[in-house]
Amino acid sequence: MSYAIIGLGKIGTAIAQAFARQGIEVAVAGRRPLDALAAQIGPSLTPRRIEDALKADVVILAMPFAAHRDIGLAAESWQGKLVIDATNAFGVPPEELGGLPSTAALAKSFPGAKVVKAFNHLPAGVLAQGARTPQGGRRVVFIASDDDAASASVAALVERLDFAPIELGKIGEGGLLVQARGNTWGQLVFQDLARFNSSK
Ligand SMILES: NC(=O)c1ccc[n+]([C@@H]2O[C@H](COP(=O)([O-])OP(=O)(O)OC[C@H]3O[C@@H](n4cnc5c(N)ncnc54)[C@H](OP(=O)(O)O)[C@@H]3O)[C@@H](O)[C@H]2O)c1
Repeated sequence: MSYAIIGLGKIGTAIAQAFARQGIEVAVAGRRPLDALAAQIGPSLTPRRIEDALKADVVILAMPFAAHRDIGLAAESWQGKLVIDATNAFGVPPEELGGLPSTAALAKSFPGAKVVKAFNHLPAGVLAQGARTPQGGRRVVFIASDDDAASASVAALVERLDFAPIELGKIGEGGLLVQARGNTWGQLVFQDLARFNSSK
């Protein structure tokens, strides 16, 4: 399984640091060359052009929500890929999204891909603190998708990154708890939770 992160700003860097800590190879791409920043984060990051990074099996969207159409158009095909939506559409009016949950609206730009919402509910500075909390728990990452297998697959990745996954169900159901859209935040956004009952 190959991975890519699009956007190496605040949240993209926090996610990339989680990959780097586990030594998991990941391509990173943005509008500008990312060689220096990628080298600073860790040797498991490879800077790529956006078009090349989008060849990965799993593409993590960590750029502004408004850029999703451009990214969708930049790949030859999304068929069979897994797209992880870490964006938030705070400030984007619901009517601009056709009344859909933000991740469902975004998914229209990635035809054929399985789309999973994850890594979006915590401030980047909190996610960047890593998977382990000072109290000895594992920091929770919420996951929502209309595709159960894709949700499980992202939960396995979250485990590999040492965080504690919690699957919330479908994007239009549990996913609404971690959605930002218009001028509202879902009830679980900003909730920095930890799991203590794990054998890991
Ligand atoms: N910051 C947080 O605490 C946080 C937490 C959860 C979710 N989010 C969400 O994550 C997304 C990114 O937020 P952020 O705070 O990380 O923003 P940011 O620090 O401004 O970083 C955005 C990154 O995306 C890149 N980018 C912008 N337009 C692009 C495009 N068309 N194609 C490829 N890359 C592009 C930027 O590159 P340039 O620098 O070259 O423009 C930058 O590296 C947003 O949707 C935000 O709502 C943020």
